[in-house]
Amino acid sequence: MPRCRVCGRRAKYYVPWSNAWFCPEHFIRYVERSVFRVYEKYIGGRHRRVLFAVSGGKDSVSLLHILAPKLLSEGVDVSILFIDLGIEGYTSKALKIVEENASMLKIPLIVSRLRDYGYTITDVAELYFKKLLRRPVCSICGMVKRYLMNRIAYEEGYDLVLTGHTLDDAAAFTLVNILSGRIDELVKIKPYNPGNHKLIARGKPLLFTYEAETKWYVEARNLPVLRVKCPYTPVEEGLVSEIKAMLHRLEERHPGIMRMYMRNLIDKLQPAISREIKESRLVYCSVCGMPSSTDPCGFCRIRSRILELKRGVEG
Ligand code: AMP
Ligand code: FES
Ligand code: ZN
Ligand code: ZN
Repeated sequence: MPRCRVCGRRAKYYVPWSNAWFCPEHFIRYVERSVFRVYEKYIGGRHRRVLFAVSGGKDSVSLLHILAPKLLSEGVDVSILFIDLGIEGYTSKALKIVEENASMLKIPLIVSRLRDYGYTITDVAELYFKKLLRRPVCSICGMVKRYLMNRIAYEEGYDLVLTGHTLDDAAAFTLVNILSGRIDELVKIKPYNPGNHKLIARGKPLLFTYEAETKWYVEARNLPVLRVKCPYTPVEEGLVSEIKAMLHRLEERHPGIMRMYMRNLIDKLQPAISREIKESRLVYCSVCGMPSSTDPCGFCRIRSRILELKRGVEG
């Protein structure tokens, strides 16, 4: 019977990248410590009003339970943001889970509704399936989420937004960027992006945390998480999911390789690449006033297109 590395009691979780067995209690501490270390190294204690973007999935729920109590104990003002994308049969379940987590931790919850901007992701999907929109639903949804996170954080006076992006997706995504030469996208995936006026600082404290760790963390702590997937998640995400599967196979033979890759990318490769890249110039969108590389911004452009198409379909 395997024994916990810390206390010698019966172990439940084997962590190959640390070659260690842990009981649930010490597994929880192990994950929390590793996330605190990332937070302290890359993000630090300079932020006083922190907004956790929580979708209800295992990653953002783990992040919330790992970091929010620590930040609260340091006197940081903490809130949760849930973006209601209006996805039928999905959003209401996700909101319930996020509400449950918010009340467990007694943290205020802000709900931002895409419907207030005149449409929902279900509308986007209908237009996409009718071939009236060419951009995939998830791609529009991702852009909308990034925009609303920043806008709400700015309007409500937060100085940091935290998301639950984990190692597995980030490793696969950055490798695809290397393969396809999208260097400017490659340098954007970081544990910390400092803010700049209306662009609020972003942190990804789980960037070195394996998805398996958040899966076991919510299990070990018996946290409420959303078990259903968004109906618009593509079955196959093309190259990204193939690379992810390849990384998982590599990981079996070389435990820790994904984390090593991410550390090298963040600490060595990105600083070298960034010196060669010109920062894209930001302008302020003439419609909504938010910072963007284009005018109107991506959010306002797609919104006016969707509202126009909806009027066409309905009228
Ligand atoms: P995803 O883009 O779905 O992989 O989500 C990445 C991260 O974005 C999650 O870990 C959350 O922190 C955040 N997020 C995703 N969807 C939502 C949502 N509906 N509301 C708030 N935050 C979200
Ligand atoms: Fe955005 Fe599924 S959550 S398309
Ligand atoms: Zn133990
Ligand atoms: Zn705009």
